[in-house]
Amino acid sequence: MGEFDSFKYQLDRPLDVKLSEFQRNDRLKHLIFAAQLTPGLLEKLRRMADMIRHMSRTRQGNMQLKNLLAHRRAMLYFTQPSTRTFLSFMAACQILGITCNEVRDTATSSETKRESKADSIRMFSSYFDVIIMRTMISEFSECCAYLMNQLELQEMRSVPIINAGAGADEHPTQALLDMYTILRTFTHDYSRESKRSRFIELQASYPELVAGPARKTYLFCGDMGRGRTARSLATVLSQYEQVRMFFVTPDHGELIMERAMIDKLRARGVEVHEFNSLDAQHDGHPILAQTDCLYMTRIQREHNSAQVEAELGQIDLSPFKLTPARASVLKTYAPILHPFPRDSVVGEIPTSIDADPRAMYFRQARNGMWIRAALLVHLFDAAEELMLIYGQFHQ
Ligand code: NCD
Repeated sequence: MGEFDSFKYQLDRPLDVKLSEFQRNDRLKHLIFAAQLTPGLLEKLRRMADMIRHMSRTRQGNMQLKNLLAHRRAMLYFTQPSTRTFLSFMAACQILGITCNEVRDTATSSETKRESKADSIRMFSSYFDVIIMRTMISEFSECCAYLMNQLELQEMRSVPIINAGAGADEHPTQALLDMYTILRTFTHDYSRESKRSRFIELQASYPELVAGPARKTYLFCGDMGRGRTARSLATVLSQYEQVRMFFVTPDHGELIMERAMIDKLRARGVEVHEFNSLDAQHDGHPILAQTDCLYMTRIQREHNSAQVEAELGQIDLSPFKLTPARASVLKTYAPILHPFPRDSVVGEIPTSIDADPRAMYFRQARNGMWIRAALLVHLFDAAEELMLIYGQFHQ
């Protein structure tokens, strides 16, 4: 890291010691780790996201939302490729009237003149009210949060940092939208939106199905070694009771879930099992038939060394593809999630699955826009104002 060496002591501390530094009373100050997304906070954000999506249906609602944070400006600092995260944060800002600006390539900023990353970030904080950032360097956003906290202590200007993807480590806002999709699938009450609840219909056919993310089996398939979205989601899900996780990965050291992560999940009471095919069985039954929610991911080739690339070339990836035959084994309600992008060459989810009513990935991506808007409302402490305008919207 070099220029962030002064934060080494802070970086090396255990996670639970760090977390309080990213909170302000019962509100997030920065969002850096998926572990900050507690069930209570997720519920608050879910309600706000539902209000925002509801209000967005009418011109009047849209105009009211556009006024909510019209006095705020956001910097989108994305030096790693992104389509959905970048665009959905931008759309979320636009819904709330937040003005956006972006740096997507350091070649166009003064970093080419050897300006340090720390100086760049401090400059962004001078002009903008929130910094949403994605970089290849795992600990960068965490260091930026420490820098902002240090400035705050010195009574200087300091703004919230949102980690929009950090190296191969963490992607908390993806876990946020994945959870919003899971919560909507398994608990959503559409009464306010005057639609029938699909969940209530499901419960009629599956009486053992309980509301919420607890007491369910989650099957994660693909690249668990470098896939930051799966790790962040598993971390959040591990907070719920009686969760079981199946990790289905090619048998390669780079792609399997890290031992330390599995130990951490087990220590939190999660029942974890690993497999190397979607056709595997557990307790005498196909794992797909026991799955309540399927989370597909792509193989993250950009992290491969030449040697790993050659080794992966030898691996048959067909056991990690969701074919229509495999989808037919899944429970009839099990949502099929994918953080996207999917690999159009490998085809871990072929387009023939897209019309399946359980295929949630496009809705999941759109959910990202609503829940990221809710996150911005929360970070700017505008939740009460949102309730107020939602009340007026209803009159
Ligand atoms: C993911 C990411 O960037 O980690 N994309 C996303 O934000 N939806 C997943 C990926 O790149 O595979």
